[in-house]
Parts: sequence; C-alpha cells; structure tokens
Amino acid sequence: MTAATLANVAYLLSSALFILGLKRLSKVKTARAGNQMAAGAMALAVVGTLVEMETIPWQWVVAGVVIGGLVGGIAAVKVEMTSMPEMVALFNGFGGAASAVVALSIFWGTGIEGLDGAEHQIVDLRTAASALGGAEAFTSALSIVIGALTFTGSIIAFMKLNGSLRNGKPILLPARHLINGLLVLAGLGCIAWFTGVAAGPDQLLTAVGALTGISLLLGILLVIPIGGADMPVVVSLLHSYSGVAASAAGFVVGNPALIIAGAMVGAAGLILTQIMCVAMNRSLVNVLVGGFGEAATAEDARDYENVTSTGPEETAMLLESASSVIIVPGYGLAVAQAQHAIHELDQELEKMGTTVRYAIHPVAGRMPGHMNVLLAEANVPYEKLVEMEAINGEFATTDAVIVLGANDVVNPSAIEDPQSPIAGMPILNVHEARSVFVIKRSLSPGYAGIKNPLFERDNSMMLFGDAKKMVQETLKELREL
Ligand code: TAP
Repeated sequence: MTAATLANVAYLLSSALFILGLKRLSKVKTARAGNQMAAGAMALAVVGTLVEMETIPWQWVVAGVVIGGLVGGIAAVKVEMTSMPEMVALFNGFGGAASAVVALSIFWGTGIEGLDGAEHQIVDLRTAASALGGAEAFTSALSIVIGALTFTGSIIAFMKLNGSLRNGKPILLPARHLINGLLVLAGLGCIAWFTGVAAGPDQLLTAVGALTGISLLLGILLVIPIGGADMPVVVSLLHSYSGVAASAAGFVVGNPALIIAGAMVGAAGLILTQIMCVAMNRSLVNVLVGGFGEAATAEDARDYENVTSTGPEETAMLLESASSVIIVPGYGLAVAQAQHAIHELDQELEKMGTTVRYAIHPVAGRMPGHMNVLLAEANVPYEKLVEMEAINGEFATTDAVIVLGANDVVNPSAIEDPQSPIAGMPILNVHEARSVFVIKRSLSPGYAGIKNPLFERDNSMMLFGDAKKMVQETLKELREL
C-alpha cells in the first residue's frame, strides 16, 4: 500500500469517527466517550498527514506536539469550571490563527518563494492565481480572512468574558458601520489585487500583508460593540468561523480530513448560534450590530426597595410544607460549586414526598450546557432537568422555587418592560410561583448588568450568602425539623 493510500484510509476512518463522536456529544451520558472518540480521530488524521508527507522533518513535528500538548494539557487541568467559556474563546482563536498561518505559508512557499526562487525557475507566474490556480488563490484568501478575524475576535471575546475589557460592556465607535464597510471593500480590493493583478513577489507580499492586517482589525471591530448577555451568540459564531477557516485551509492544502472536520465545526457552530439567538429572542443581525446591555448603570442596578430577606431556618420550614419545588440554577451555582449540596437537598425533599425538578434556561451560566454539565457531575438524574419551554407553564402551580445563583434568566423585566436592555429575552417565569427563594450573596446585578425587579416582589425572599453554604445550612435545618 502506498503512503497516499494509507493516508486516505486514515482520513476516511477519522471522518467516520468525527461523525460518531459528534453524535455522542448530543447526550450527557455519552458525551465523554464522544469527546474521546473525536480526539482519537484527530490523532489518526494527524498520523495520516505525517505518513502522506513522508519527508517532513521529525524534529518540527515532535517540537509542535510537545509545545502544543503541554500548553493545552496544563490549561485544561488548571482551568476553573467558571472560566471554561474564556478557554473555549481562546481555542476558537487558536484554531482561526492556525488556519490563517497555513494559508499564509502556502502564499509564501508557492506564491512568493516560487515566483522568486531561482531553483523553481518559474518566471512566467505573475499573480497568485497563476502561481496557485484561481480556486486555490481564492480559498487561501478566504482562509486568511476568516482565520485572522476569528483570531482577534476571539481574543476580544476572551477579554470581555473575563471582564478585562471595559468589564464586558459594548464599545460603540462613532461611524463604526462605515469603518467596517470600508475595511470590507479594502479587503476585497486586496483579494482582487493579488489574485489577478500583482506583478511580482513584492506586490503579492504587500497585498497579502494588507489583507491579513485588515482582517485582524475587522475581528477587533466586529466584536467590541457586542456585550452584555449577547456574548454566548458571539462565542458560538466565532466557533463556527474557526471551522469554516479550517475547512478552507483543508482545500488549500488538499487535506480531506481537515475539510470534513472544519465543515462539521462550522455547521455545529452555526446551529448553536441559531439556538442561542432563539434563546435570547434576537436575530443574528441584531446581535452583530451590537450595543446590548449598555443602558444599565451600576447604580440603578443596585437600587432596590422592599426587599425581604430570610434565613436558612425559615426557608427550611417553608420548604418542608411544599409539595412541589423547582430549582433554578444559574452562574452562581458554578461559582460556589453548589451542585453536590443542591442534589443532597433535592434528595432530602424527595424523601419527604416533595416533587423536585430543575428548570434549565438555555443561556444560564457562561457556556451552552453549563448547568447540565455541573448537575450531571453531581449525578442529578437527567430526567429531572426540564427545559425552559417545557417547565414555564408550571411555575404558577408550584409551591416553592429556589433560584440558586441565577439572575438574568429569571428577570421579569425582560417580558414586562419594553425599555429593558434585555426586553424580549425569554425567561423562566419563576415570579409566578407561590414562594421564591433567591440565593445569592448580595443585590449585585448579573451578567447583563441590570436591576432585577424579582427581588422586590411580595412572593420573593432573599437568602443572602454563598450558594453552597446557604444550601448546606438549609439542608441542616430541614434535617433537624
Ligand atoms: P447571572 O445573570 O450572571 O447572575 C449570576 C448571579 O450569581 C449573580 O447575580 C451573582 O450575584 C450570583 N453569584 C455569584 N457567585 C455566587 C455565589 N458564590 N453564591 C451565590 N450566588 C452567586 O447568571 P444567569 O442567571 O445564569 O444568567 C447568565 C447570563 O450570562 C446571561 O445574561 C447570559 O446571556 C450570559 N452569558 C451566558 C453564556 C452562556 S452560553 N450560558 C455565555 C456568556 C454570557 P451576587 O454577586 O450577589 O452573589
């Protein structure tokens, strides 16, 4: 069997494993195995490429595997569960950068050195299209544009998510749409220049350099106006872009595994973006135009009247008499790592004959499926987790709701105040329940930075403190009753 045939068999196997792995990721129980399967598929594809390339210098391969493996391994072991979204944003950015670098290396190796290098003796190649072929020149340009803007866009998303860039708030430049439009036109001009006009290596290099610079700048400008609760949409869109850039790079280097894996990431990211948009009740265009979350100020977000606070003992007494309880987890559950404690409380209530379910909002926490992952880690049965659409009609007939470190996803102003920055976002209708216990440390706002009138409602009681500690104390009181 030749090296090319062996490589093609490896690519075919890895593509099949990618598809099976992705399918397994759709269920919590099989997700871990799906992830391992996809990682194995990627290792197989890498081996296939090494076999195909035959003469590749091994010191470069070993150095790449050691450096990349160490950085990825240390980051994955050290990252806190609450920082996973930042890590996902960074990985998207690295994926985009890798694709852009592959396309740039093609221009360098074939388009520029090939034009210039005496050993190639290619004197009649004057443009990228004639050096690489029209389709290849265009695909590598696409890979540079999408890869570079995914890189800088993801770095900005990372900085917004960890609060180091204006605390995650939108940055709205004057005439930003005009600036972006002009940059897009300039980028198209560069592509036309190097594919059809550039008359030598120097001009080709200038055109490719200008296109790379423009794309890097566009990535920054496209993400800085987006903020507040819209970040999940942006992160999943950038994820999709990184897949498209990889797929384009696959076409450039003629690697089928990269084309297939990139296309799958691109499609999965796009579907996730659509799910996130539906969850926020916003169109993609609306999100990309930006400015969400700008209206609130820190002062009005903390300005509350008639807030009733309670303690673990009173909470336990009221929970004891409830026949139905719904738990609403949010980002605070992840911060406090309260998943095991809440599962213990849930089991204690069930022993007393109470029906307990968990209401899951699609953007609760800081990444898609954040709450599902944490609750699965604490072995909460999957059947007890009910999606927003399925449970929203049931709050009105529920005795008690425990809001555990959630805020934006239970903010009634989204459906009652058309002026609210989160107006139109679907929420969990916890305010309709007979009693609502909100466990959080203070009256601070959530991610969108806005006031939550739920805390002032007559049926709401605030249990101020760390989510895990408050749940443990309530459980202790419940057992003593
Ligand atoms: P948030 O609205 O962010 O509210 C979380 C609340 O948890 C805060 O108000 C905070 O209040 C409380 N908290 C923090 N640490 C705590 C602790 N140790 N113990 C108890 N409470 C604690 O969370 P949410 O309701 O889950 O909504 C998610 C928000 O994030 C949405 O706006 C969403 O759009 C956005 N977002 C989501 C994603 C994805 S994909 N899920 C990604 C990026 C952004 P205190 O400080 O007073 O305790």
